[in-house]
Amino acid sequence: MRSLALLALLGLSMTARGIEIQGHRGARGLLPENTIPSFERAVELGVDVLELDLGMTRDGVPVVHHDRALNPEHTRDAAGAWLAPPGAFLNTLDLADLADLDVGRAAPGSRTAERFPGQVPHDGARIPTLADVLALGKRPGTEGLRFNIETKLNPLAPEETAGPAEFARAVIAVLRAEGMVERANVQSFDWRVLFEARRLAPELSTVCLTVERRWLDNILRGRPGPSPWTAGLDIDAFGGSVPRLVEAAGCAVWSPFYRDLTEETVAEAHALGLRVVVWTVNEVDDMLALARLGVDGIITDYPDRAVEALAR
Ligand code: G3P
Ligand code: CA
Repeated sequence: MRSLALLALLGLSMTARGIEIQGHRGARGLLPENTIPSFERAVELGVDVLELDLGMTRDGVPVVHHDRALNPEHTRDAAGAWLAPPGAFLNTLDLADLADLDVGRAAPGSRTAERFPGQVPHDGARIPTLADVLALGKRPGTEGLRFNIETKLNPLAPEETAGPAEFARAVIAVLRAEGMVERANVQSFDWRVLFEARRLAPELSTVCLTVERRWLDNILRGRPGPSPWTAGLDIDAFGGSVPRLVEAAGCAVWSPFYRDLTEETVAEAHALGLRVVVWTVNEVDDMLALARLGVDGIITDYPDRAVEALAR
């Protein structure tokens, strides 16, 4: 197997480099996000974990897609025409409706195309199911590959996705059917689904995603009552400590936006027994600084950069 040969050649197993590398949406900087070619490239480059986003179709199938609706920035119909915005919500479509959609190229002039100028199109790439991606972990030589599965739901837009219980049931059913519970994490900004998932599969490791930015804040410190994202837990009842909040939520891993992290919060999380995995880090200098800070894992659109930088 190419990936293992490469790992062996470079001595780049996670143990060897001491830090886990996760391919974000596969290898989004190199190939179209959340497609099988993108995930394959990440595996070839030697990532430890594939990070992927999950939605659910109307007929209840978990599919690998970042947005709650089809994204016209990188989706063409069966005739090759770019979808007109806004895209349809996944929960209004059956799996069969997705079969002919092509997500293998960023629309010219789109934000995706501008942001990832080195992304090589792969025309004909389809929206995979969760089971399709998990199958990559059954190929020869990928026994050590793991999956960081992000359930995409939003407590402020409940009509746009399955609810947390239904979502968790569907994901756990696929993980069990594929024999992958032990090789998967479930992560979410909406922590309700993490509680539901652990109720169904207590052995499952869950990841609390956090971000405290103007463009998204799922912690909402200093406001009356709990954030709608944190399953009834209120940061202000934990002295304002995100690591303590995450511990109370039962997550094994804290996954913050990388710019929210400090030396103090890494140390606090480690003292609580949490692993710290940051997203989404694309510049080598940031990767090295975070490695020095002691993070346990880095999620990146550019696994090639991370593998090279963290081998140093
Ligand atoms: O792994 C967490 C990270 O993927 C969250 O951000 O929007 O890229 O899914 P997003
Ligand atoms: Ca994600």
